Amino acid sequence: MCGIVGYVGHRPASDLLLEGLSRLEYRGYDSAGIAVVDDSEIEVRKRLGRVAGLIEMLELQPVAGSIGIGHTRWATHGEASDINSHPHRDETGRVVIVHNGVIENYDRLKSELAMSGRGFRSTTDTEVVAQLIGWKLDQLIESGRAADDPETCWDALQAALGELKGTYGLGVLFRDCPGHLWTTRCGSPLVVGVGDQEFFLASDTSPLIGYTRDVVYLDDHDTARLGSDGIEVRHRDAGIRDIPVQTIQDEAVDIELVDCPHYMLKEIYEQPESVRSALRGRLNLDDATAVFGGLNADLAEVRRIDRIVLTACGTSWHAGLVGEYLLEEFARIPTEVEYASELRYRNAPLTDNTMVFAITQSGETADTLAALRECRRKGHKTLAICNTVGSTIAREADGGIYLHAGPEIGVASTKAFTSQVTVLALLALYLGRMRHMSFRAGQSFVEALQGMPELISETLECHDRVRRVAMRYADCENFLYLGRQYNFPVALEGALKLKEISYIHAEGYPAAEMKHGPIALVDRQTPSVFVTPRGGVYEKVISNLEEIKARGGPVIAIAGRDDDRIGQLADEVISVPDVPEFLQPLVTSIPLQLLAYEIALLRGCNVDRPRNLAKSVTVE
Ligand code: F6R
Repeated sequence: MCGIVGYVGHRPASDLLLEGLSRLEYRGYDSAGIAVVDDSEIEVRKRLGRVAGLIEMLELQPVAGSIGIGHTRWATHGEASDINSHPHRDETGRVVIVHNGVIENYDRLKSELAMSGRGFRSTTDTEVVAQLIGWKLDQLIESGRAADDPETCWDALQAALGELKGTYGLGVLFRDCPGHLWTTRCGSPLVVGVGDQEFFLASDTSPLIGYTRDVVYLDDHDTARLGSDGIEVRHRDAGIRDIPVQTIQDEAVDIELVDCPHYMLKEIYEQPESVRSALRGRLNLDDATAVFGGLNADLAEVRRIDRIVLTACGTSWHAGLVGEYLLEEFARIPTEVEYASELRYRNAPLTDNTMVFAITQSGETADTLAALRECRRKGHKTLAICNTVGSTIAREADGGIYLHAGPEIGVASTKAFTSQVTVLALLALYLGRMRHMSFRAGQSFVEALQGMPELISETLECHDRVRRVAMRYADCENFLYLGRQYNFPVALEGALKLKEISYIHAEGYPAAEMKHGPIALVDRQTPSVFVTPRGGVYEKVISNLEEIKARGGPVIAIAGRDDDRIGQLADEVISVPDVPEFLQPLVTSIPLQLLAYEIALLRGCNVDRPRNLAKSVTVE
């Protein structure tokens, strides 16, 4: 949800800002802009559309200077337009800002500022922040403070922040203090890269790669000033802070597309490796269990757990549903999966020994963060199952398990899902072995997990077959996705993938539930995708499949190898390797990712940048 970059140093700022924005474009691509301090002026270039358009603009109207800020927008307040693009200035042009987040009280602030004579150009909440800082600055200058004193800028900024309600990550330039860049956050992510006499600012670490691995993560209500004299961080309540510089892990590096046409495809094909990474070092063969380094919970505490809550959004929520089946079957712990956006306001009664896991790829999803905070506030142990090292959720949780999947850039989540399921399976094994699971059962579990990366590679061989199926059904306007037990969340996930990147209406259902309503949708133009590998509910799903066939609906089946029975019933069969039932989502989800990808391509959709979406949803 909007990406922010900034630079202070000795290199031409505009090149670095544009490169950083290209890497953050997955966060929003409605418009892009930069502001660069050029002598005593702040030059702004911004326009509707992708970063590529901004690059063209800068070729014709370059800006010089080595301090600047940039922004790529996912519109929340105010339509996507040139004028609503960031950066925004205050009326006098003394203050220029970029913003990620939502200012909830912007309407009231705007009226007050308008009454004091300020004129607005845009319809954004961000311009209100720029005007508010500018207004505070004017008041300080009128009271005799020097405009070119950094302390005046600190005070103007803090005074304005004190009036804001909502979320923000800000990059701020003051025209009269041209050697500095200020940045501050509340609920939106920001990281500062520390180079050799230079600083980089970004919403996540991807723009820093290739420049520095040393970073400072800002906490809520921290404000930092970056200048040639170094970095100074002040906290709203605690004054000047000494924040440690941390080093980013190697895994954050691989963000180039190389020979792949799309990030989504690259990430689908990375799954054998990402699942291998999730397993690496976490299987203990001697004790037939799993081991985790970062749970930060002692054995007695883990043994006392009597309930688990998994909270997440979107695809991560679907992974949580698989987790519910795994944890209840193998650890025998009652588990609930909660939409974070609902849990945060629901005041659900939780037992003293409830452990809460927030599942999130980005570690920045606003609803998941709020649900985690709410559970912490009530004294529950909160853990994160997270991909992004150093993200807000990873830092705020009491402990957790990283996915180690590497950066996921494609807006549609793929490899994060299979890594989340892998980690949840490890967790079920760990908790199960502490309770009822026998050594022998633990051994088979471990062996099954060890075999998964290879079986996922084998699954990817279905791609040609999926492509042919996609060609036959790409024009359909409705799809049903049906599965049972472990494959019910897979059906939901398959439908979500198709919806988000091809804009086809798709619904996922438990296969048997289909009779209670959705079957009314079935006709010759509405394919049903059945996720039906062999297993305990196989016969039941076949009956559901027959019910669809009897009503003339075309059936695409994701089935086990050489399943002749399905071959005779279904119109199309995509086969996947046979794996133990509890790990089936790791293979059955893959043809569905590929199906969505191929259909989206055939329909001419932008696979990596689907309309209206952004990779990380940092607004409520
Ligand atoms: C779908 C998708 C989203 C995310 C959701 C949660 O493909 O990517 O549904 O899964 O926004 O994001 P994280 O996992 O980053 O919290």
